[in-house]
Amino acid sequence: MTETASRRTLHITTWGCQMNVYDSGRMADVLRPLGYQQVATQDADMVILNTCHIRERASEKLFSELGRLRALKESRGGAMMIAVAGCVAQAEGAEIIARAPHVDLVVGSQAYYRLPELIAEIEAKRRAVIDTDFPAAQKFDLLPEDQASQGPIAFLAIQEGCDKFCTFCVVPYTRGAEASRPAAAILAEARRLVAGGAREIALLGQNVNAWHGKAPDGSTWNLARLLAELADIDGLARLRYTTSHPRDMDAALIASHRDNPKLMPFLHLPVQSGSDAVLARMNRRHDADLFRRIVGELRAARPDIALSSDFIVGFPGETDADFAATMQLVRETGFALAYSFKYSRRPGTPAADAADQIDEAVKDARLQELQAVLRDQQHGFNRAQVGRSFEVLFTGTGRHPGQSAGRSPYLQPVVVNDADIVPGTLHTVKIVQSNPNSLMASLIQEQIAA
Ligand code: 5AD
Ligand code: SF4
Repeated sequence: MTETASRRTLHITTWGCQMNVYDSGRMADVLRPLGYQQVATQDADMVILNTCHIRERASEKLFSELGRLRALKESRGGAMMIAVAGCVAQAEGAEIIARAPHVDLVVGSQAYYRLPELIAEIEAKRRAVIDTDFPAAQKFDLLPEDQASQGPIAFLAIQEGCDKFCTFCVVPYTRGAEASRPAAAILAEARRLVAGGAREIALLGQNVNAWHGKAPDGSTWNLARLLAELADIDGLARLRYTTSHPRDMDAALIASHRDNPKLMPFLHLPVQSGSDAVLARMNRRHDADLFRRIVGELRAARPDIALSSDFIVGFPGETDADFAATMQLVRETGFALAYSFKYSRRPGTPAADAADQIDEAVKDARLQELQAVLRDQQHGFNRAQVGRSFEVLFTGTGRHPGQSAGRSPYLQPVVVNDADIVPGTLHTVKIVQSNPNSLMASLIQEQIAA
């Protein structure tokens, strides 16, 4: 790879999901060969704001940050490049430059592999550039192979986009149609990540369990098969995948939770609502009973599996009875972790135009009621770990001096009072105390062999 003589500086601010975090890392990988090194915002020649459009306040947040950057850019006589990337860039395109003319570049979530050309174009023509195209080929396979190490826990995008068209969701519009990367490219990237220090890989996709990729022999693999192949990589200890849709939890994937020893006993499976009427209007293509059945099958396959989910309250037309059905589903399922949101009208999505929008006050009350139960369940799940022993993958230091921290198989942060644990090593620990969001443990085994 050619190094330019000049050192250029870059800062990327990331909002939103794990896919955005991955994309930001890949943007840095694309720019590194041009000499860009990452620094704090105030020292950067180029600032990229990688945005999220999934819920409200994304564009407010963007324009307030752009206001701050404008002052910084002016204080430098204009010598600073400002780029807006991600889903707001994809959704709003030229609107962003109309509202904030100091923005130099708007680059959609599919186009950032072209950043070097786009920067050259801005420098040559001295005018703003907008690129929100969807390339014919998949962007992931147009990105450079060289990646900065992500450390012991790495993310790997295997799928992008979504064809489900839930009526509340912008993803099918901002990320495009569902597309799966070929298996060979994924396996090669996974091997590179492991060579770079990854012990755990989380496969990413907006609808990751819909992945069906071309296999090296020309056939098509499902996610269960891909996970089995990934499990053969020496030095890789753990696998996860996120985010899944209930309709794509096939029997083979459920069986992987029993048969694949590297697949961690944790699954994020958004259900959104416990009411069939609401699920139908959300166009979720599943009812509450399908979710119950899948949970039953997962627990039969892997009795200790911990479940996580997403919920939306106050979807248009949601009645007290609909909300009660959600509360019922939560109580009977039991979640180790969950994310819950008030419905937010997203321009361009079908539900945004529904007549029966719910009052903010009702949404607030329902959200509080739901979150109180979900919080209790999370704390209860953490408390239930006290006295248990399991393997922890250590990733670095804890918050206080003398501590090391890592992740449990169930994704909880685990902290031990021992400063000498090498990041990337696995150790058996015994849980001695639970906190709402983390566990304290003592080491009971020095190190588990790779
Ligand atoms: N309003 C509220 N929550 C939403 N989500 C997606 N779109 C919306 C919206 N318009 C939530 C869903 C999804 C998670 C990533 O964000 O719960 O699973
Ligand atoms: Fe959005 Fe997920 Fe529904 Fe796809 S499946 S439209 S990403 S909520």
